[in-house]
Amino acid sequence: MSNAAAVPSASPFLAACRGEAPSHTPVWFMRQAGRSLPEYKKARAGTTMLEACSTPELVAEITMQPVRRYGVDAAIFFSDIVVPIAAIGVDVQIVPGTGPVVAEPFRTEADVKRLRNLDPCDVTYITEAIGLLGKELGDTPLIGFAGAPFTLASYLIEGGPSRDHAKTKALMKSRPEVWHGIASRLAAICGEFLRIQVEAGAKAVQLFDSWAGALSEADYRRFVLPHSTAALAGVAQSVPRIHFGVGTGHLLEAMTETGAEVSGIDFRIPLDQAAKRLPDKVLQGNLDPAVVFADDAALLAETDAVLEAAKGAKGHIFNLGHGVLPDTDPAKLKLVVDRVHEATAR
Ligand code: CP3
Repeated sequence: MSNAAAVPSASPFLAACRGEAPSHTPVWFMRQAGRSLPEYKKARAGTTMLEACSTPELVAEITMQPVRRYGVDAAIFFSDIVVPIAAIGVDVQIVPGTGPVVAEPFRTEADVKRLRNLDPCDVTYITEAIGLLGKELGDTPLIGFAGAPFTLASYLIEGGPSRDHAKTKALMKSRPEVWHGIASRLAAICGEFLRIQVEAGAKAVQLFDSWAGALSEADYRRFVLPHSTAALAGVAQSVPRIHFGVGTGHLLEAMTETGAEVSGIDFRIPLDQAAKRLPDKVLQGNLDPAVVFADDAALLAETDAVLEAAKGAKGHIFNLGHGVLPDTDPAKLKLVVDRVHEATAR
C-alpha cells in the first residue's frame, strides 16, 4: 500500500479499499461466481468442482459471468479455498452439497510434513486464467482470495465440514506444537497462493476465515492471529487486503491486528456499531443473504438500511454478510446492485 495513495483510483472498488471517496459505493457479492447463476450451471455441467478450477478458460468464463449479469464493481476469482491444498498433492475432494472432504485427516507431527510449500508451477492454470481475464475484465478489478489457516486447518483436521470444530480445538489444546506446525505450513501456502494471484494481476485479495467465529478471543489470539497475519503479510505492500469471518462480532478488533485494510462484517453486526469499534477501517458488508428471499420492497429497504448504517465508516464496500445462497434469484441481486449505484452516485 506504500505508493498506492498518491494516484486516485478510477475503480470505485479500489478507491473505497484505499479510504478514498469513490464515484459511487462499490458493490460485489461473496460467492457471486457460481452458485445460483443458470449460466454457471450450464458451464459446469460434466466437470467436478476441482476440474473446473484447474481449467483456465472455464475459470475465466465463470469469473466473468456475474460481472456481465450484475455490473458489480469487482470480480472474484473462481476457485476454492482447498485448491492450493489439492495442488500440493493432498487427497481432497469437494463433494456437492457437503463441501471439502479430506481422505486422510491431519492430526500428528508426521502429518505436518505432508504440507509442503506451494510452488507457482503447481498452479500454472491460475496464472493462465488470470492472464485470460486481464483482457476481458477491462477496468473491473479482480479480487484474489485464499482460505485462512484456521478455516483450512479445520477441514484438514476434522476430515470434512464440522459444526463444532472439536478435533481442531482438541489438537490446539493437547498438542499445540502440532497445531502451530499445521497452521504455519498453511499460512505459508495461503500466502503464496495470494502472492501468485497478485503477481498474475489480481488487484486486491480477500482472506476468508469463515469459521474463526467458533473460537474465543483468547484462543483466536493465541492459536490463529499470528498465522492469519503471516498469510496476509506477503501481499501487504502490493494490494489492499480484505479480512472476513462469520460470527466474529467478539473478534472484530483482534482480527484487525492482522493488518488488513478492509474488515468484512457479517450480517449479525450492524455496520454503525462496527464503524464505532473500527474507526480506522474500511468496512465491507453486510446485507443478510437471506433477505433476497423477501419481497422487493423489503429487500430494497434492507439495502438502504445497510447504506445508511455505513455512513459513519471510514469507507464502505457493499456486500452480503456471507455468501450468496444457492437458491438466490439472480434478478434480486441485480436489483440490489442498481439500488446501491443509484442511491450513492456522487
Ligand atoms: O466467491 C466466489 O464466487 C468465488 C469462488 C469461491 C468458491 N468458494 C467457489 C465454490 C469462493 C471465494 C469460495 C470460498 C470457500 N470455499 C469458503 C469460504 C467462504 C464461505 O462461504 O464461508 C469455504 C468455507 C469453502 C469450502 C467449500 N467449497 C464449501 C463449503 C463448498 C460448498 C459445497 C456445497 O456444494 O454445498 C464448496 C464448493 C464450492 N466452492 C462451490 C463453489 C461455486 C459449489 C460447487 C458446485 O457448484 O458444485
